Amino acid sequence: MIALKSPLEISKMRVANQIVAETLAEITERIRPGIETLELDILAEETCRRRKVKPAFKNYRGYPNTLCISINDEVVHGIPSKRTLQAGDIVSIDFGVRYDGYFGDAAITVAVGEVSATAQKLMAATEESLYAGIAQVAVGNRLGDVSHAIQKTVEGYGFSVIRDFVGHGIGRSLHEDPQIPNFGPPGQGPVLQPGMTFAIEPMVSAGSWEISIMPDGWTAITKDGSLAAHYEHTVALTEKGVLILSNL
Ligand code: MF3
Ligand code: CO
Repeated sequence: MIALKSPLEISKMRVANQIVAETLAEITERIRPGIETLELDILAEETCRRRKVKPAFKNYRGYPNTLCISINDEVVHGIPSKRTLQAGDIVSIDFGVRYDGYFGDAAITVAVGEVSATAQKLMAATEESLYAGIAQVAVGNRLGDVSHAIQKTVEGYGFSVIRDFVGHGIGRSLHEDPQIPNFGPPGQGPVLQPGMTFAIEPMVSAGSWEISIMPDGWTAITKDGSLAAHYEHTVALTEKGVLILSNL
């Protein structure tokens, strides 16, 4: 069942997501060679305390931190640590909060110093696929139209969509129905209606889509060691069309 949200509920989600967007921008400014990923996590945690919101990921199914920080061949759910970022790395930062009972969730991939042409193309293609998916969030479209637009964009660049993780409904919980795969045929799945709120999050590999989970139980890495990127926005479908809630 897909829970529809009222305009008041969507306005609370907007506040949550704006805090997420501002924090991600703040973190992006700090990203440079030599910084420990745990320093970025502490920064996000301090922001949550100052803005009086709850980190959404910390303790979620036992996840230990505020941010997920995934470097290079790490796809998602990388755990912040004493590891330092190096010039040439690409780093995905995923962050969510709860404000007044409502959730926000967004992710970006950032280049550390100069990165390879492949890395640049991978980041651009993944972000473009997110916006191609969002463009399909329209009253009367079907959820499969969103999934298909993402897959088509990604594969058009010769990259592959990760299968093992999906986007999701969001609102009163971090993860609500429906699941939103980043692949699949158009014209299928639930019909989109005003009041639906989604976290759309393509995860893309420059090589094969197969992943494995590291011994920490969380970090997903590409099996073939290829680079991965991840972009995510929380969006709301209203009578007037789609709103990106996690924009600055
Ligand atoms: N954006 C990711 C998701 O929606 C982040 C979840 S991290 C977790 O699944 F720790 F909360 F699982
Ligand atoms: Co998410």
